[in-house]
Amino acid sequence: MAKVTVIGAGNVGATCANAILHMKYASEIVLLDIKEGVSEGKAMDMMQTAKLYQFDCRIKGVTNDYKATADSDVVIITSGMPRKPGMTREELIGVNAGIVNNVVSNALQHSPNAIFLIIANPMDPMTYLTLKSTGLPKNRVIGMGGLLDSSRFNYYLSQALNVAAADVEGIVIGGHGDTTMIPLINKATYKCTNVTSLLSKEAADKVVADTMVGGATLTKLLGTSAWYAPGAAAAVMVKSIIMDEKKVFPCCVYLDGEYGQKDLCIGVPAVLGNTGCEKIIELDLNEEEQQLFAKSAAAVKNTNNVLYDMKILKA
Ligand code: LAC
Repeated sequence: MAKVTVIGAGNVGATCANAILHMKYASEIVLLDIKEGVSEGKAMDMMQTAKLYQFDCRIKGVTNDYKATADSDVVIITSGMPRKPGMTREELIGVNAGIVNNVVSNALQHSPNAIFLIIANPMDPMTYLTLKSTGLPKNRVIGMGGLLDSSRFNYYLSQALNVAAADVEGIVIGGHGDTTMIPLINKATYKCTNVTSLLSKEAADKVVADTMVGGATLTKLLGTSAWYAPGAAAAVMVKSIIMDEKKVFPCCVYLDGEYGQKDLCIGVPAVLGNTGCEKIIELDLNEEEQQLFAKSAAAVKNTNNVLYDMKILKA
């Protein structure tokens, strides 16, 4: 059975840990935060649901005690500032790059074989930073964004079609940003039927637009970034890794020529199994989708360059 560490006991980290407990695929979870008492309290609160939900996994909350995270199979990085209403994810780079760098290097010292799942924003550059600063092989550093964006896409599709979200199949590729994500509407289906033949052009365009600002819409309502769907998406990805399910999810992974792109981490469908990202799936994109992907990759690279400008990464 597996050990998972969740760094950051805020809304996303705690929700993710709770989802993992309920999904019953781990034997041990460590929830780590810098704020004394928070992770201990949340972990104890969750443990007090063990009898109610009948799970055997133990969760332990710790304050900055990286020794407790030793030998984790997967380390999930949620630490950093969430965005506030009106903010883009990219604006968080200055604050979060230092935090992510620091927690990743601490966690790696104690779990040298772990697979890292990055949630902290701006997620694509934070995944790239983790890969470059640790020198880990590319299969072991994965970002969570595409599955969340896809889940939001399927939600909006199901609302527009008035059908069950489980029966809708749509994926989002590209960057995890309001203007960089690409909901692949032409490839989305409802029970093998293309959704574009079931929706008016206006309705389909609205689904795409709503998906792209899905996170921003929630941030405006909540005053902070969302947590239920982000936590659940991460827990589902980690399950595929730990249980070696080999499911295909849109993940932020390092591209080395795939999709005509090099030297960046961005969302594309990938097989997740025991060794992390086991394979990148190259979709057959039409011309418009290819152009959108190239534009998205350029925008993500632009934000990555901030890491070099800030001297957090050396060229
Ligand atoms: C969101 C954050 C997690 O999209 O990026 O809600």
